[in-house]
Amino acid sequence: MWTIDRPSRRNALSRATVRELGRLAREAVDRSDIRCVVLTGAGELAFCAGADLKERQSMNVEDVRDFLGLYRSAFDAIDRLPKPVIAAIGGVAYGGGLELALACDLRVMSHQTKVGLTEVSLAIIPGAGGTQRLTRIVGEARAKELILFARRIEASEAHNLGIVHRVTSEGETALDLAMSMAETLAGQAPIAVSAALDAIDGASDLSLDAGLLHERRCYERTLASEDRLEALAAFREKRAPKYEGK
Ligand code: COA
Repeated sequence: MWTIDRPSRRNALSRATVRELGRLAREAVDRSDIRCVVLTGAGELAFCAGADLKERQSMNVEDVRDFLGLYRSAFDAIDRLPKPVIAAIGGVAYGGGLELALACDLRVMSHQTKVGLTEVSLAIIPGAGGTQRLTRIVGEARAKELILFARRIEASEAHNLGIVHRVTSEGETALDLAMSMAETLAGQAPIAVSAALDAIDGASDLSLDAGLLHERRCYERTLASEDRLEALAAFREKRAPKYEGK
């Protein structure tokens, strides 16, 4: 589990925080003990309040450009991590906070909180992938409305729009929900999970023909795996499979 632990700034993203997230994502690629990641924010008030606007006061234009480059490399590393990353949104996710969650594979949200790409209200635009990733999820028309009005939306609307996958019930936290999903995912065959993520990620960028070829290549990785044989053996022997990631 990765926790952004800056509750006094509502877990806002400083340079150091973004750098550390990128480092963790790159390190996780080859860690066979990590099968799934849950990303959350400390405390109940905020998942992440976006860019650290206090740190931003001391930045000149060139510093902000560097920061945008840092966002790009760190959030790309999270997006491309060949293991599922689940954002557990227990408190507000605004601006870069929601963009961070959008770079994750799955998002769960407390029924009591809100999310939004609020940047235009601060005279900037989403700069950590939000215009691209939100639009791929909700479509151009809805993305324009959400971003131009800097809307802060409730969990039910975020769920209806497909921005979050699941919303908590009364008495449940976003972290509880994310951890139970992570437990299920950690029990799946890692090579299949990573191949499925890769195959799906190709869908929005490729033509259908190229996408089907990409899917075929991703499938190929599972054919060579011991876990595929374990799945067949477990089916035959009427027992639960035990996947080793080989
Ligand atoms: N960067 C730096 N500090 C932040 C911050 C941010 N993005 N968001 C909140 N904080 C700080 C506040 O300045 C405040 O610090 P202070 O106690 O020194 O004054 C502290 O966190 C608590 O914030 P406060 O607004 O009092 O708490 P809240 O729980 O009532 O509201 C938010 C929290 C996140 C809803 C509200 O602070 C907010 O809307 N922040 C801006 C979010 C945003 O638009 N981010 C996009 C940035 S591009």
